[in-house]
Amino acid sequence: MQGRIVGGYTAAPNSIKYIVSLQSTRGQHFCGGSLVHRYWVLTAAHCDIGAEHMMIVAGDYIVNAFEGTEQYAKPHRLVPHPLYNRSTNNADIMLIKLRAPMVLNKYVSLAPLPRQGTGLVEGRVCRVSGWGYNSHGGGQARFALRTVTVPIVSTARCNSSESFNGNITANMICAGYRTGGKDACKGDSGGPLVCSGRAYGVVSWGNGCGDAKFPGVYTAVSKFRRWIDQTIYGSYLRCTRY
Ligand code: ARG
Repeated sequence: MQGRIVGGYTAAPNSIKYIVSLQSTRGQHFCGGSLVHRYWVLTAAHCDIGAEHMMIVAGDYIVNAFEGTEQYAKPHRLVPHPLYNRSTNNADIMLIKLRAPMVLNKYVSLAPLPRQGTGLVEGRVCRVSGWGYNSHGGGQARFALRTVTVPIVSTARCNSSESFNGNITANMICAGYRTGGKDACKGDSGGPLVCSGRAYGVVSWGNGCGDAKFPGVYTAVSKFRRWIDQTIYGSYLRCTRY
């Protein structure tokens, strides 16, 4: 169980249509993401392995098998947030512009985002999904998309000395049960935390997985909504080709 969505279950096939898998050019899944525009994917800045090493797969379900519903796109440009700090994990958010647009269909859709500055109250139940797994699992298993529900934890509680002790910035959201057991984990990074149909969080970091003392930490998308819109639509205002 370690190294995958913890305590969750297999999602119904193609029920989460905006989730994408970021893969190495050899087809190895390493992060999740969300399609927010036909040309753009939202993910975590720490998933930046360089555009030339990356492939984006939409319409996927079993991540290591070909099902015929997948669409593949190479990145044209990676835009990690300028304030991303790899030691504090602050502003762990990145946009990927695709070389070719994804086609929206029965298997691929766009993720709605929260408005700039929208908060979430403690206890609000959200859903995190991903294909996180340990690559040393062998190559035998088929990795279906997994999903789990987790409630929002207040920043005050998440920052307490019994938990992350002040390391949660205003650009982060915590989510998890007081008893632990349900969480995102390694390889789920970049994937969406969805509350009432909107992608409020991006899987960012944690301390172990499913630990009662340490909820999962997500990038607060609502703090970056303006940056997202400026990055996506600013590029179109300056470019008449589209
Ligand atoms: N940084 C991890 C990754 O690269 C995600 C960690 C999320 N951990 C957690 N306990 N929620 O996949």
